Amino acid sequence: MTIRIRDAVEADVEGIARTHVQGWRESYKDFLSPEALAGLSVEERVQMWQRALAEPEPRARLLVAEADDGEIVGFIRGGPIRGKGPELLGTGAEIYAVYLLDKVKRQGIGRSLMRGVFDHLAAHGLRSVGLWVLKDNLVARRFYEALGGTAGAEQSFDLRGQMVTEVAYRFELSPQG
Ligand SMILES: CC(C)(COP(=O)(O)OP(=O)(O)OC[C@H]1O[C@@H](n2cnc3c(N)ncnc32)[C@H](O)[C@@H]1OP(=O)(O)O)[C@@H](O)C(=O)NCCC(=O)NCCS
Repeated sequence: MTIRIRDAVEADVEGIARTHVQGWRESYKDFLSPEALAGLSVEERVQMWQRALAEPEPRARLLVAEADDGEIVGFIRGGPIRGKGPELLGTGAEIYAVYLLDKVKRQGIGRSLMRGVFDHLAAHGLRSVGLWVLKDNLVARRFYEALGGTAGAEQSFDLRGQMVTEVAYRFELSPQG
């Protein structure tokens, strides 16, 4: 399977939403409750991603990984800091979400998606980027560490009826000439 990484367009919203829900179900089944995973809705995610794409924020970037048959098998979105506990990240920018389906993991696609967003943020003058990851998500934590991320603050909250702890990761961005 050949995978192409490109900027998302409006027509990708359904594929991104499906990958988001399937990605949670495949990747979080060992540490989130079946109830939390069963409650996920593609329709809800479609609306969320439609709003994200409509946002006039040039510093944000939404990339998709597309298989040669047109299936969306992964995506990433990052941009200026927002959302919960931003002061704990201490960075100007944030990765809001990065997800791949199981069938395309460990082929360097995650690394390319992160690079695509890091380069975009650096080109807009941002010097550091952070993100929150579930503490139990060891695969993602190894991935962020392989990309040079350093772990920092922690926060706990109620995620769909289950108390979870997240860890912040921070990455320094190289200035672009
Ligand atoms: C985290 C994720 C994006 C990684 O993407 P990926 O394309 O599989 O990762 P890559 O192939 O680019 O891996 C880059 C490096 O990260 C590390 N890494 C990736 N997966 C790993 C694993 N399962 N175990 C240990 N290290 C791993 C390795 O150092 C790897 O380099 P190598 O393959 O040369 O050894 C992917 O696993 C995923 O979508 N997970 C589910 C969603 C998720 O948890 N998102 C994070 C939410 S905060």
